[in-house]
Parts: sequence; structure tokens; C-alpha cells
Amino acid sequence: MLITGANSGIGLEFAKQYAARGWTVIATDRRAEPPKSLTDLASRYRNVRIERLDVTSLDQARALAQKLSSVPIDVLINNAGVYNDRSRCRRDDEGCPGDWSVESFGKLDYPLLDTIMAVNIKGPLIVSEAFYANVKASAQRKIVAISSSNGTLTGERSPRPGAIFYRMSKAALNREMQIVAASTRRDGVTVVMLNPGPTLTEHQEYLKGYPGMLTTSFTVRHMIETIGKVTILDSGRFLRYDGATEPW
Ligand SMILES: NC(=O)c1ccc[n+]([C@@H]2O[C@H](COP(=O)([O-])OP(=O)(O)OC[C@H]3O[C@@H](n4cnc5c(N)ncnc54)[C@H](OP(=O)(O)O)[C@@H]3O)[C@@H](O)[C@H]2O)c1
Repeated sequence: MLITGANSGIGLEFAKQYAARGWTVIATDRRAEPPKSLTDLASRYRNVRIERLDVTSLDQARALAQKLSSVPIDVLINNAGVYNDRSRCRRDDEGCPGDWSVESFGKLDYPLLDTIMAVNIKGPLIVSEAFYANVKASAQRKIVAISSSNGTLTGERSPRPGAIFYRMSKAALNREMQIVAASTRRDGVTVVMLNPGPTLTEHQEYLKGYPGMLTTSFTVRHMIETIGKVTILDSGRFLRYDGATEPW
């Protein structure tokens, strides 16, 4: 399996849990040097291979796909995502919550919009296209996009303000992956969008105690089970971590 943005949060937990289940894991990150979270994992599990991939870079995606040309990828997880402005967080301060204020109407920071669109919308298309031959050549043939209930158009009775960039990016991600699913069905490739639910990753530690927050190991364990169960009949669906249908 190959996962993007594997150096922290949900992506790192996917890499850990798939590795512990004995899968060959291609854990990708965008850093110039492999981050310690991944070198530690690779030293614990010989089935973890670290590769560099900035999902916004067509050149990097194509170069890595070329390097992996003979490697089938059963499950391709488009996990990398940006939710807010972390430019004022220290590089090693994983607990820094980032700044949401610049995604509120009246205070919009447009360069952040460009970043969020590039990573959350363009990235999954670049990655899905670049590694499509690897997925098609595999036994399971599954592409997953980690989305969010923040992208829903119909699931909120009264939409609250705020987080405009992130929420619109996940709405677009769902729509694009629905169309990718329609395009890949003929090849027997299953494409699903998953909502992890409100997950207490390192960056979300500040939400500890907030009702409904879920541990990262819990949501990822359920998502792995759901990924294992989905079939071509589910292609194009948006599912909660436990496989329930999500409205959007
Ligand atoms: N946590 C939640 O409650 C929650 C809920 C719903 C959906 N999600 C979704 O779950 C996914 C993972 O989020 P998370 O909570 O685990 O956040 P996270 O810890 O911030 O992880 C995001 C990952 O994406 C990477 N990334 C950012 N830009 C990238 C780029 N250009 N190329 C490659 N990687 C890039 C980050 O790398 P750097 O460390 O280098 O920045 C990081 O590894 C996201 O798509 C998010 O929207 C999360």
C-alpha cells in the first residue's frame, strides 16, 4: 500500500497499523529529509519503505511512479491534507493547533487558499493518476481519499461560519473522487472517500476533552477494516470510518 502525508497524524497511524498487519507500506512524506516519525517506524518494521512525495508536484509524483513501475499497489491512500495556517508553528511543535482565523469571511488569507486547494484537491488527482497503473496491476485495486464531514453540502441543518477553505476543499475532493470512481469502474478499481471523524491527532491535542473526539488508533483501525470490506459496488461512495454512509 502507498500513503501520502505519512509522517504525522492519521497518515502515520495508517502506516503503523498496516505495517503491524504485515503489509508492505510505502510511506511518503514531503520533507527534504525523512522525518524521525517515519525513520523510527522503518527501523521497527522492515516492511516500511520511506519515499519523498509532495502531492502538489506532478514531477515528483511521476518520478516516484517511474521508480515504482513494477510495484503493484493494492491500496492507495490519499491522506495528505492541510486544514489551516501552520506557518507560525515551530517545525517540531506537533501540538501547535495552527491558525483558523484566516479562513473566516472578512479575514480570508488567499495564499492559504491556494495551498489548501493544491494539497487537498489537486494532490489526490495527481497521485491517483500517477500511480493508477500500479493500482490497476494489483489484486485489491483500491483508491481511498481521506475526506471530511466538513465537505458536506446537505449534512448540516444550519451551516456554521468559518473554515471556508478547508470545508470547500473537501466538498470538491468528494466530487472529484466520485468522478474518478466513475472513470475507473471499467478497470475494476474501487474508489471511496472516507470520513475519519473528529480525530485527536497531535495537531488536534488542544481539542482533548471536547465531546465526541476519537483516538487516532480507533478511527484508523476502523478505516482499515472498512477499506478491507469495500468492493466495486461501493465505488464513488462517501463513508464514515466504520463504513456507514455519510451524507454530502
Ligand atoms: N484529524 C481529524 O480530525 C480529521 C478529520 C477529518 C478529516 N481529516 C483528514 O485526514 C487527513 C490527515 O489529517 P491529520 O489530521 O492526520 O493531519 P496532519 O497530522 O496535519 O497530517 C497531514 C499530513 O499531510 C502532509 N502534507 C501537507 N502538505 C503536503 C504536501 N504538499 N505533500 C505531501 N504531504 C503533505 C503533512 O506533512 P507535513 O508534516 O510536512 O506538513 C502531514 O503529514 C487530512 O486529509 C485531513 O483533512 C482529519
